[in-house]
Amino acid sequence: MKNITVIGSGTMGNGIAHTFAQHGFNVALVDINADALNRAIQTITNNLDRQLKKGTIDEKQKADTLNNIITHTDLITAAANADLVIEAATENSDIKLKLFKQLSEICGDDTILASNTSSISITQIASVTKKPENVIGMHFMNPVPVMKLVEVIRGYATSNVVTQKVMELAQQLDKNPVEVNDYPGFVANRILMPMINEAIYTLFEGVAGVNEIDTVMKLGMAHPMGPLQLADFIGLDVCLAILNVLYSGFGNQKYAPCPLLVNMVTAGHLGVKSGSGFYKYI
Ligand code: CAA
Repeated sequence: MKNITVIGSGTMGNGIAHTFAQHGFNVALVDINADALNRAIQTITNNLDRQLKKGTIDEKQKADTLNNIITHTDLITAAANADLVIEAATENSDIKLKLFKQLSEICGDDTILASNTSSISITQIASVTKKPENVIGMHFMNPVPVMKLVEVIRGYATSNVVTQKVMELAQQLDKNPVEVNDYPGFVANRILMPMINEAIYTLFEGVAGVNEIDTVMKLGMAHPMGPLQLADFIGLDVCLAILNVLYSGFGNQKYAPCPLLVNMVTAGHLGVKSGSGFYKYI
């Protein structure tokens, strides 16, 4: 596999493009919004500068990485020659289903179609394509250039050959792939989100304050960020959406989102990206 198309130039999309390009792949980064593409290239440049400053890459590796990325606003030109397409568009099932239907028309029979979705069913996404056996989940973690895990999600119809190819590809990116089956929240978010929700309930019920809860988990459990800071980092709207997928998918009260989380999202306090969440960022 050499030609990788990444759909969506937000936080996850630009991190995925950065990582593939740094490992020598040709990356076509596509977004409907040209300004968003410019911002993505700026973010990738800043993150490469950060790596340069640390001495983990040199000037040539920075230049090669940037040269390996071409931006597009047209999906057809961007995806026509792809060996692998990774969709990292907005976490909305209507948008994803429409995109995969289009990709199934545009791409060749051997192209692997992957989604970076954090919770939408791979089996459902695959069901709108011509070759569901070629559809798989490739769930990267934020910040993508740093985090070692790729959760590889097999849909009901995903073939063994496609799964094997994607596992090997993740290793070529110097990541550790883990194969999981397609059930609500997969593994990462099925375990992470109830912890974050419980931290929000702990705050909501007045058991402890924001700093106290995060300090307990940071210093007591050696987590790099406390659960409330992590929720801000992921985005409170994303956390709420994933909890709702777990709640409706399993029909179990234990996944019901905390009313404080619902209120904060309704008020537009979404964490880092909106400037305030459990902490302030301006
Ligand atoms: N691109 C490139 N490099 C980056 C980066 C980026 N976007 N962000 C950080 N880095 C690098 C830094 O250069 C630094 O490199 P060195 O180790 O070589 O020094 C390293 O990462 C650590 O960064 P910092 O020193 O700036 O800060 P830190 O030590 O506080 O670490 C962190 C920052 C890596 C984000 C750390 O706090 C962490 O691991 N947090 C938890 C992240 C996490 O849990 N992510 C998963 C979220 S869930 C998800 O993504 C999936 C979902 O579906 C919701």
